[in-house]
Amino acid sequence: MSRLIHHSKLNLSRFSIITSRNGRFMSTGYDKSAGSDNSNTTDRVEEAETVNVPPPLTEKLLVLGGNGFVGSHICKEALNRGLDVGSLSRSGRSSIQESWANNVTWHQGDLFSTDSWKDALKGVTSIISCVGGFGSNSQMYKINGTANINAIRAASEEGVKRFVYISAADFGLVNYLLQGYYDGKRAAETELLTRYPYGGVILRPGFIYGTRKVGSMQLPLGVIGSPLEMVLQNAKKLNQVPLVGPLFTPPVNVTAVARVAVRAATDPVFPPGIVDVYGILRYSQQRSV
Ligand SMILES: NC(=O)c1ccc[n+]([C@@H]2O[C@H](COP(=O)([O-])OP(=O)(O)OC[C@H]3O[C@@H](n4cnc5c(N)ncnc54)[C@H](OP(=O)(O)O)[C@@H]3O)[C@@H](O)[C@H]2O)c1
Repeated sequence: MSRLIHHSKLNLSRFSIITSRNGRFMSTGYDKSAGSDNSNTTDRVEEAETVNVPPPLTEKLLVLGGNGFVGSHICKEALNRGLDVGSLSRSGRSSIQESWANNVTWHQGDLFSTDSWKDALKGVTSIISCVGGFGSNSQMYKINGTANINAIRAASEEGVKRFVYISAADFGLVNYLLQGYYDGKRAAETELLTRYPYGGVILRPGFIYGTRKVGSMQLPLGVIGSPLEMVLQNAKKLNQVPLVGPLFTPPVNVTAVARVAVRAATDPVFPPGIVDVYGILRYSQQRSV
């Protein structure tokens, strides 16, 4: 940056310099507080050149479980936003036959064996984990908890800046029936908040609806989810009724979850911490910047 402003009598320090969104420096004006030793100097910038600086580094997002229901919508949303997108799962490439899937880098690996996916972490700036599932209590604890704890530790050791975890809303009584699931979710959340106090975001959706691929079938979960969302998102008070209240948690559309997850993973001013269902609905309705 050898020459910012071509002006023979003014010092650089007298100008306010800002960086524009396209990564170029611009002079905005003359700073009077810097004093003046030249009575002929005016407040007007006579000539403001822009100087090329290297563009910001491309965001490289790794979606853990990017071939699943929520993960595939996240990959699609991230590609639409111009990110470099990778997915990691045990089966690797998604069976989805849509054209966007060709633009994802599909990695095969298992979160229980960090060595199997270390390479997928190279150059990654943010991660969204959609890894989770059901089974016996111990299986649920392992997949929702241990697998994600491994991922959070590996990511933080590799210097990944931001990590978003798709967790789940409390469902009151249901928590007792699915104890391993919820204990695992909360253990992974604790690890994330410890390792990523500034760049960790936890999304806690209730039921997520959208078109889900089950084998060769497309399951339109929105038929139930969409009307329920409309009714329940305005009935937050019901959610606070003891014991049964959490059953009134509004469902959310999978595209809304994807939009908020990608923003949380890439926007450095997105607040860290827990985002509940109502937060997901609110953020998803905001115009993204
Ligand atoms: N769907 C909902 O209504 C809902 C509601 C609230 C919260 N959530 C949470 O949202 C997340 C995503 O849910 P989903 O419905 O999209 O689940 P999903 O379709 O079953 O996706 C789970 C993904 O995790 C991958 N995976 C599982 N074990 C793995 C391992 N050991 N290593 C690497 N990848 C592994 C799976 O791929 P492979 O089998 O190929 O490994 C799959 O891509 C979960 O954490 C879930 O608990 C979902």
